[in-house]
Amino acid sequence: MARGGERAGRCGGRWLPWLGLALLPLAVPPAAAPAGCPAACYCVTTPELVQCRYERLEELPRELPVTVRNLSIAGSNLSALPRAAFAARPLPELRLLRLHSDNIQVVEDMALQGLPALHTLDLSHNPLLSVAPGAFSGAPLLRTLQLNQALLAAPLEEQLALAVRNLSLRRLELGGNALRALPTALLPAGLEELDLRNNSLQRLTAAELRSLDAPGLRGLRLTLGANPLSCDCALRPFLAWLRATTARVPDARSLRCSGPSPLRGTALLRLRPDGLVCTGSEGSEPGQLETASYVFFGIVLALIGIVFLMVLYLNRRGIKRWLHNLREACRDQMEGYHYRYEQDADPRRTSAVSTPGL
Ligand SMILES: *[C@@H]1O[C@H](CO)[C@@H](O)[C@H](O)[C@H]1NC(C)=O
Ligand SMILES: *[C@@H]1O[C@H](CO)[C@@H](O)[C@H](O)[C@H]1NC(C)=O
Ligand SMILES: *[C@@H]1O[C@H](CO)[C@@H](O)[C@H](O)[C@H]1NC(C)=O
Repeated sequence: MARGGERAGRCGGRWLPWLGLALLPLAVPPAAAPAGCPAACYCVTTPELVQCRYERLEELPRELPVTVRNLSIAGSNLSALPRAAFAARPLPELRLLRLHSDNIQVVEDMALQGLPALHTLDLSHNPLLSVAPGAFSGAPLLRTLQLNQALLAAPLEEQLALAVRNLSLRRLELGGNALRALPTALLPAGLEELDLRNNSLQRLTAAELRSLDAPGLRGLRLTLGANPLSCDCALRPFLAWLRATTARVPDARSLRCSGPSPLRGTALLRLRPDGLVCTGSEGSEPGQLETASYVFFGIVLALIGIVFLMVLYLNRRGIKRWLHNLREACRDQMEGYHYRYEQDADPRRTSAVSTPGL
């Protein structure tokens, strides 16, 4: 009995602070925050702007002011943006939803239902693993989608292509996603701004440039700073395009070569397309090139070997004759030796030779 009571006491002792923490918001908010501000969040002066920061929320706060226009939840652990997350309590005036660094991995179908005025959604710095095809369908006015450093955890381009297909996006941010090619499938018609800074683009290819001239994308401007642009002959189509349509790349003047070494740091617009030389390794890593050349060398050696064996095989009669002749020649030679040996072995000759030495 005493043991049981002791254990209960210890349990209560361990849980009491947590219980206190959970109850605290219920008691405090009316005094500490403006009316309608969710307990876990830190509201800035007006209920129009709600910011929830570093509170490690595990789900979206429920009691948000209906008049909120900007909602920002950063540094939490939301894991998912579930279906109809806001449908039970619609936020008819919410225009900006910033869910920055919230460890969101899944965006379910109709996640934005109940946000009819949503204009900007920021999902940057989340390790997205899956985005449902209808993820953004609940927000017909969505114009700006920010996905900076959000596509690093999984190859998401196909899923996102379906999710953005029917949106009327104007601005798409894909900075810091280690992209190696223009994500052409992710560009809905009518897009006006595309942010591709800090990716892994070495160039835009001729085919990618053609897709930028598709009817729905003629008004698109793209920023490309902080990409490892490789100033070799493979860059010619892009450089020619850039010089002809500088206005479509607002940061064109600050673009610089990151290789090859003689051109590192040179402003792209100072170069002429026909001045770019082929370095012999464009389009492939030096390591890959070496492996490829070893493989090629091996194949050539094998071919030479096969040809040699075939020549031997086809010429087998000639070779037999040649061997025969060789053997005959050998035998003649051997007979010659034999004869000489016999002569050498002649005792009279031997004694004749050895007498002067004695
Ligand atoms: C809400 O966000 C928009 C867009 O970022 C900004 O222009 C506006 O000033 C914000 N409103 C408030 C009240 O902070
Ligand atoms: C985030 O939440 C999930 C469950 O929803 C939990 O398993 C995980 O440990 C949490 N991560 C952190 C860093 O708190
Ligand atoms: C660029 O993107 C990488 C991830 O791809 C990130 O780690 C890095 O901090 C970013 N750099 C800047 C300046 O944003």
